[in-house]
Amino acid sequence: MTAPHSKPTFHQSQLEQGGAVLAPMAGFSDAPFRLLCREYGAAWAVTEMVSSMGVVMNGKKSFEIGEPYSGEPNLVIQLFGSDPQIMAEAGAKLYEEFKPVALDINMGCPVPKIVKNGGGACLLQTPDLAHDLIQALDKAVPVPVSAKIRLGWDKYNAIEVAKALESGGAASVALHGRTRAQAYTGQADWDKIEEVSSQLSIPLIGSGDVISKAMFDERKHKAKGIMIGRGAIGRPWIFQEVLGGQSLEIPEIVRLAYRHSLLNVEWYGEHTGMRQMRGVLPHYFKGFAGANRVRQQITQVSSLDDVRRLLNEIFPDVNLEDVTMGAAFEGHHAASLDGHAARNN
Ligand SMILES: Cc1cc2nc3c(=O)[nH]c(=O)nc-3n(C[C@H](O)[C@H](O)[C@H](O)COP(=O)(O)O)c2cc1C
Repeated sequence: MTAPHSKPTFHQSQLEQGGAVLAPMAGFSDAPFRLLCREYGAAWAVTEMVSSMGVVMNGKKSFEIGEPYSGEPNLVIQLFGSDPQIMAEAGAKLYEEFKPVALDINMGCPVPKIVKNGGGACLLQTPDLAHDLIQALDKAVPVPVSAKIRLGWDKYNAIEVAKALESGGAASVALHGRTRAQAYTGQADWDKIEEVSSQLSIPLIGSGDVISKAMFDERKHKAKGIMIGRGAIGRPWIFQEVLGGQSLEIPEIVRLAYRHSLLNVEWYGEHTGMRQMRGVLPHYFKGFAGANRVRQQITQVSSLDDVRRLLNEIFPDVNLEDVTMGAAFEGHHAASLDGHAARNN
């Protein structure tokens, strides 16, 4: 409906302001984590991947994954699927429901459950279908669309895929510098990221193994933007660091870990929220006195009280009493809390 050239240039203008983007990560880049990353200066934050079929079938879980927190700015929702018609329908529905600033298609996920249905990294083998998917989505929504790819399925063909996406109307492409066959082994190949970037006229965002400001600075000239994934888990202030800001002191880290727990409980309910935090909290506690003890005992926590007691015991000088969720979550989620709580059950 809207011609690509008349769409807002969200990616380009946002990237010009510097900073890194929070990579989509299933199981991690949910609303609580996106809030923290955005507060610390992430240019934008991509949701966990949402099933296009799930959205078309009105699946509650699919809408919950795409749902923004109250007033979430720069929401980019990632979809997966392999049918252009369904992708278009899902995109239009999500746009209608949540008004994201952009939509993204997952073309890099190596997980068998996704790949066996022709989605995720499978699309790297069929650039024509990748083109048709992005074109269908682009025509269905008034906001820019993008895709996230890998270097290839088992050999390097990202230039071909990225060009197919560009000609299909993609406003940007994100590239994880590994093939599907490599999964997460070895090092992301930033020379290939640079090569693909140089072949496109749309911005390419590089992804892979950036876990510090030094690494960000080393790689930033190789692409138009940089995504940070694992380097932000338990370290959302990395976005502040890459912008030239400070790291956090230990008491601030402890308070932030507790705030993340508060946000999770508000979003998912205590049972599910705390279960998910068991996988997140250990990432906050690395490399300082007391951190090992927290990591050893964190798997036992099942309530916010447990977390507070444990942190108070190990860090008695850190005040947790005045830690709050922040305005975007307070009171906001009570209505749909049941839905979120049900999500992982
Ligand atoms: C736990 C986990 C979940 C991920 N989920 C997704 C996803 O849903 N969609 C996607 O495009 N990439 C996904 N990725 C890939 C990341 O976005 C990123 O490209 C990759 O982790 C490399 O970047 P990093 O080294 O900064 O983590 C995931 C990665 C991890 C570790």
